[in-house]
Amino acid sequence: MKKTIVLKVSSTKPEIRLIRLAARIIQNGGLVAFPTETVYGLGADALNPKAVKAMFKAKKRPPDNPPIIHIADKNDVYMLAKKVPKKAEKLMKALWPGPLTIILERSKILPNITVSGLDTVAIRMPRHKVALALIRESKSPIAAPSANLAGRPSPTTAEHVLRDLDGRIDLVLDCGSTRIGVESTVVDLTVNPPQVLRPGGVTYERLVKILGKVRLHPVAIADKKVKMLRARSPGVKHKHYAPRAKLILVEGSSTVAVSEKIQELVNRFMDDKKRTGVLATDETMEEYEADVVKSLGSRRNFRVIAKRLFACLREFDDEGVDIIVAEGLPLKGLGLAVMNRLRKASGYKIVKVES
Ligand code: TXA
Ligand code: MG
Repeated sequence: MKKTIVLKVSSTKPEIRLIRLAARIIQNGGLVAFPTETVYGLGADALNPKAVKAMFKAKKRPPDNPPIIHIADKNDVYMLAKKVPKKAEKLMKALWPGPLTIILERSKILPNITVSGLDTVAIRMPRHKVALALIRESKSPIAAPSANLAGRPSPTTAEHVLRDLDGRIDLVLDCGSTRIGVESTVVDLTVNPPQVLRPGGVTYERLVKILGKVRLHPVAIADKKVKMLRARSPGVKHKHYAPRAKLILVEGSSTVAVSEKIQELVNRFMDDKKRTGVLATDETMEEYEADVVKSLGSRRNFRVIAKRLFACLREFDDEGVDIIVAEGLPLKGLGLAVMNRLRKASGYKIVKVES
């Protein structure tokens, strides 16, 4: 086990001395967890196959699920991709730096291991001064999946990173909580019309405004298990975002009916002597009687809900909950990203309530 160093860094004026120290670790093939505007990433030099291999190992990530390549200069896309279609340029112009990842055909510059042997590559330019400074000082694109153990909720604080990866990585740059809280939106631009493979910080509605026609792939909606070609959406077969507790999601158009169903399930689990939690919203939380009740925030503010989601899932584990029953939310705006995570976290154990 190695010693993981933690350095507090200013997110508004990153201390260059600390950034250089981190960059040196990346250049030497080491692993650095760093904040982005979405979640913390676990960075390795994308052009160094040994470093990327160590990253997969530290996170226990299956080697068939490639990371996102992070850049600090839009022009680097032309080095990493074989072709950059007009639509990609439109998105880069409108949304970078920001929580958008684009899938393009890849150039030969990236080692096979970095792209899990695929013909495509996922690229993003994050909107975070520390992330951008680290990439620049490392003088190489940085391969960075979320900095959690594979299958666990993504980390939105340095503490979450340490919970999963202390002793397994070299350094964490600590900037407190991340602003958005769900990961970037992943859009595949190798197909026409473009397809959203993972909803995230950029809403579907926004993409449609910029590009016109955009498809939502079934894996983005995630209301059931989807079988598909690995080359199109690697990683879908793996477990995602799961707290240690079992999670059941209750969905329906009537909040009253959903709340009633949740309480009915909670009563049943508590009768079975299971420590039971409810993941609720400000508008509904008073209605539940359970061992632990947590609110994600108000249904009128999905930004707060998205920001708190992963931390709430981890808190249930800290409180020793066996089963979490979660309220479904509308699929509009950031709600789609939140529901994608909850549906996957449930392993598709979704109860639909008719009203
Ligand atoms: O916000 C984010 O995107 C964060 C921060 C750190 O940037 N990163 C992140 O990385 O969430 P990760 O590795 O946890 O998720 C990357 C997603 C996975 O679902 C992976 O399967 C997909 O991108 N992906 C990577 N390469 C791909 C490719 N060539 N084609 C399709 N999907 C790809
Ligand atoms: Mg991840």
